[in-house]
Amino acid sequence: MKNNPKSGGFLEQLGLFFSVLFYTLFAWHSWWSGVSPRLIRGSAERDAIHHAHLNIGATLFVLLLLIFAVWLFRPGTSVITGLKKAFSDVSNTAVSLFFIFMFFAMLAGLGQAWAKGEVTKVLGVFPLHEFLDWSWSTSGYMHSALSTISTAFFSAIVFVYLFTHLRKYVKPGVAVALLIILHLLINLPKPPSLHPIADFGAYVLVPSYYLIGLALFCWAKNRRWVYIPILTVIVVFFLYLPYFAFKVLPPWHQSAAEETVFVESKEVLTPPRPKTEIFPTSENLAAAKETASWCTQCHNAVESKEHLLGPNLVGVFNRQAGTAAGYGRYSKGMVKAGVEGMFWTRANLSEFLSHGKEFVPGTLMNQQTDLSDPVKRNQVIDYLEYISSK
Ligand code: HEC
Repeated sequence: MKNNPKSGGFLEQLGLFFSVLFYTLFAWHSWWSGVSPRLIRGSAERDAIHHAHLNIGATLFVLLLLIFAVWLFRPGTSVITGLKKAFSDVSNTAVSLFFIFMFFAMLAGLGQAWAKGEVTKVLGVFPLHEFLDWSWSTSGYMHSALSTISTAFFSAIVFVYLFTHLRKYVKPGVAVALLIILHLLINLPKPPSLHPIADFGAYVLVPSYYLIGLALFCWAKNRRWVYIPILTVIVVFFLYLPYFAFKVLPPWHQSAAEETVFVESKEVLTPPRPKTEIFPTSENLAAAKETASWCTQCHNAVESKEHLLGPNLVGVFNRQAGTAAGYGRYSKGMVKAGVEGMFWTRANLSEFLSHGKEFVPGTLMNQQTDLSDPVKRNQVIDYLEYISSK
């Protein structure tokens, strides 16, 4: 079989096909993951999206393993020659890195699911048995760090790969411009409730990953070792990005959780009202859920021992600040407020959700949504009372 110099050999064609396929799936996935934070965690709608997403991940993972096996054991080449060839030049190395990277990114995604006891299914039918212990990966921080790094690498590798192909037909600058325009166009159709963080990722972060990828590619092409420290800086940057964005300390910065000190409330507490009194109609409840959905990016609002970046909010109403059982990440400021007798009443919640940084100095919560409007704020507080009411 003779190779067409423009379109490349088998490996390149395979890489091209899969990078376009994965890129399209990726755009689709970011679209949905931009919508899902607007749905309350644990709700049926959100679970449906979540499971579709996991099953697609499991299916692609198995597909990737099959393709790798076929490629490795294809007749006519030894395994060693095959592996050497896979890293023989920049273009082949990009494809190989792409596959290796996809493998680990998917494994990490599946591992996160297994750690939570979720069933992943190939083609939505055949359960994929968990084969590793992922208990370390439940930390919300690692999840964010891994996903920012994998998004960055994934986008950069696809970009460089498509760029090396386009460049054969147009000037490099035109190729970059075309790819960025294409990326923006693909991400233009937006669902009504897309989360602004997803917008930021699609329009700002991913194009910058492209440029970083391209810069690395240029270094690598000249085989300059300097790209290793640059790569290290980039990885460290992405490991810390969730910290800057969400103000959540990486696991390696956490000291052992101190013992919780329980005190009496400074004021008399009014017990939560019955659920039906808080939201007389299902419309009231739905509207409050919609507003509170911002919070469930970081907080679980369903009965569960699991904490996300923030503590589980079920039962927060009338609870001493900084005392959710099993959440080991409170700021000193929050613990202090609790020990000084602050309990989460309507009045305290209203203060915290309108100007949290002044109300609890040193808080790590970055609520990301403006609740200065008293109507919205009350809806959220009603919702916190609702999930704490028996
Ligand atoms: C970006 C992540 C994030 C978002 C979004 C977020 N929180 Fe938080 N929240 C946290 C973190 C982290 C803490 C722990 C803060 C600390 O220890 O200083 C926290 C603490 C709290 C507490 C105190 C809990 C306790 O046990 O003392 C309440 C109440 C709370 N959040 C409510 C909300 C509400 C309501 C919203 C939505 C309007 C929201 N949060 C949005 C991360 C977040």
